Amino acid sequence: MRDASDPAPVLHLRQATRLSRRILADRLSVPEDEWRLRLVQRRGSHGGSLVFAARRRGEEAASFAVKLFARPDHARAEFRAAAAARGSAAAVAEPVGFDPEAGIVVSRWVEGETMGALVRRPGAAAPVAACGRWLRAFHRPLPARPVSARRVLLQRLAAARAEPIRPGPEREAWLRAAEALAQRIGAMSPGWCWPVRIHGDFLPQNLILSGRSPVGVDLCWVRAGSRHLDLARMTIHLLLLPRERGLPSDYDGAALRHLFLRAYGLRGGQARHWLEAAEAVEILVRWASFCREDTWHRRQAGRDLVRALAADRELVR
Ligand SMILES: Nc1ncnc2c1ncn2[C@@H]1O[C@H](COP(=O)(O)OP(=O)(O)OP(=O)(O)O)[C@@H](O)[C@H]1O
Ligand SMILES: [Mg+2]
Repeated sequence: MRDASDPAPVLHLRQATRLSRRILADRLSVPEDEWRLRLVQRRGSHGGSLVFAARRRGEEAASFAVKLFARPDHARAEFRAAAAARGSAAAVAEPVGFDPEAGIVVSRWVEGETMGALVRRPGAAAPVAACGRWLRAFHRPLPARPVSARRVLLQRLAAARAEPIRPGPEREAWLRAAEALAQRIGAMSPGWCWPVRIHGDFLPQNLILSGRSPVGVDLCWVRAGSRHLDLARMTIHLLLLPRERGLPSDYDGAALRHLFLRAYGLRGGQARHWLEAAEAVEILVRWASFCREDTWHRRQAGRDLVRALAADRELVR
């Protein structure tokens, strides 16, 4: 556990604020001391990405978002993906500038609530359907060679296996489940399909409802790929949300999953078959990530539910 008097996170934050002001001043020709920054997102106490809302002195509302990446190459990827998505029917936060060395992206502030907040409240159906429609528009076919859905899923599973889980019986259970799933997927047909532009981390907190239209953020994982990865990331998230306290008593993850897929317009037996395989992989990805959570409570809350889901889908014996 981190020592509460550890100065590193505070120093990191101060440095980040200073750097962000400098980049805003550079890119927008407004002096550094004109900018007021508010931290809106902090991943990990230090070393993760930070997002600030930036407003000019005298103005009430934020006009820019400044994101500092833990990995500078992700800043470049995010900026490029956002620039390429300009004018698309699936709106994204407008990129303003980036600094490759500092790993910072500045984009226009999107006023509104994240879908992440909206799905946790009564009346989640409309925001979930909006997520499905946005994703449909975002999944633009790309002029690239066909990809094998089987290969994509095996790669995703292999990436999850490469990330360490602490040794113990749970790790053994996870590894057995991953091995069995790899064999199951390995025995499927190659599933050739045309690649589309995928978001790569399609979770509700990465969409902001601005007025009536969703706007996408967090674009550093955008790439050509198989649509099932984005779909499964969202559907399994909806099924695992009841691990959190404070959801409405009538929250129904299975019904929201169904609604999301209907709004997306997923049709046909083959598409469903690959979606289920992608969901099985995503269940293992989430299981592993719960095992890595740093507090006992967060670890436990997710694990019980994800193991129940894995048992339900016959991923564990
Ligand atoms: N342009 C923007 N306008 C308004 N809010 C934004 C903007 N960009 C980011 N945010 C807010 O900051 C949050 C985190 O941003 P983002 O998802 O890009 O960072 P992240 O560190 O990759 O997050 P995570 O890993 O949790 O998905 C978003 O959920 C959103 O609330
Ligand atoms: Mg995000």
